[in-house]
Amino acid sequence: MSDAFDNLLRASLITAHDESNAFDAVVPPIVQTSLFTFSDYDEMVATYRGEKQRPVYSRGLNPTVRVFEDMLARLEGADDALAFASGMAAISSTVLSFVEPGDRIVAVRHLYPDAFRFFETVLKRMRVEVIYVDGRDEEAVAKALPGAKLLYLESPTSWVMDAHDVGALAALAKQHSVLSVIDNSWATPVFQRPLTLGVDLVLHSASKYLGGHSDVVAGVVAGPKALIERIRTETLPYLGGKLSPFDAWLLVRGLRTLPIRMKAHEASALEIAHRLQALDIVEKVCHPALNNALPPGLHGTSGLFSFIFKDQINIRSFCDHLTLFKLGVSWGGHESLIVPGDVVANQKAPPSFAAAFGVDPLSVRLHVGLEGTEALWSDVQAAIAAARTK
Ligand SMILES: Cc1ncc(COP(=O)(O)O)c(C=O)c1O
Repeated sequence: MSDAFDNLLRASLITAHDESNAFDAVVPPIVQTSLFTFSDYDEMVATYRGEKQRPVYSRGLNPTVRVFEDMLARLEGADDALAFASGMAAISSTVLSFVEPGDRIVAVRHLYPDAFRFFETVLKRMRVEVIYVDGRDEEAVAKALPGAKLLYLESPTSWVMDAHDVGALAALAKQHSVLSVIDNSWATPVFQRPLTLGVDLVLHSASKYLGGHSDVVAGVVAGPKALIERIRTETLPYLGGKLSPFDAWLLVRGLRTLPIRMKAHEASALEIAHRLQALDIVEKVCHPALNNALPPGLHGTSGLFSFIFKDQINIRSFCDHLTLFKLGVSWGGHESLIVPGDVVANQKAPPSFAAAFGVDPLSVRLHVGLEGTEALWSDVQAAIAAARTK
């Protein structure tokens, strides 16, 4: 991230709402209401006719949610954004806005497991076919694209953290008139701004870094006016997964410190990844900044990565001896977390993500939080010492 963008980003996050509408408060109000009344009959008629834009009902437009949507749109360099009650609501509403029976989606392998399950259950029932390709293999992507409706990207991917050349993949999609969508939850706009790389729509699980404090489940999609309008009018009102005002307020609070938090996650995670890679008990560290250069367009790395042990450790004992890293799903908050690969590989949630893409049972995924690098490294070292079998 350039210094100029960093300064612009921070300033826009701090001065993100119109204080004149909120008693000059530096924090926007939580407009915790389901509905908004009209001053008279004519105002109601004008609003229903679309001649006047104003809130009617919070499943459509709510001022607090709008503050978050505006902030996120600005961060991603988008015309507009729409916020949802979860990342999965953002994914499902977005994808369902653009596909119909008989269509084909090209998706990258190792995408977020519940996105994979959504594709393999709901979309399959709708007779939408999804084929999975290695996003690092641009030839394979180019071969799969002709005739497809949508290219679904995630970079870096879940679990194995494969980072792709997002701009090159977006250009391929454009060549074949295929709409491109990316899940940018891992990098956030601090490290990757996919719309500036040519992707059509960018979405997030805002439950992760955008919120940043593990106290909200939310999602958002951002992009050009016409595409966002289609989601706003064709799927969101009927699937109904709109973000609540209080959760939007939590997200606005979280976004103010996003650039600062991301740099802290990056520094700690990178240091721990390097130290793990130097250990004789570690087979491989899956972190986009190790082993290869970052692809163009990815300007930094977050706190989530995985690594694979050699067969010289009791993974159960390793997990149970950690004190700062807690066993838990999700990521992006202040706290450090661990998920063991063998648990994921044996998860009873068909269709199996592990069967489709493979999850090494000797792998673990770490989310490196904000506790401090040395404290976290001591935690890892002590747990390895206690769990070593050879
Ligand atoms: C990469 C990624 N995308 C999307 C999601 C789904 O988001 P949510 O849990 O907010 O529905 C997650 C959740 O873990 C995720 O890791």
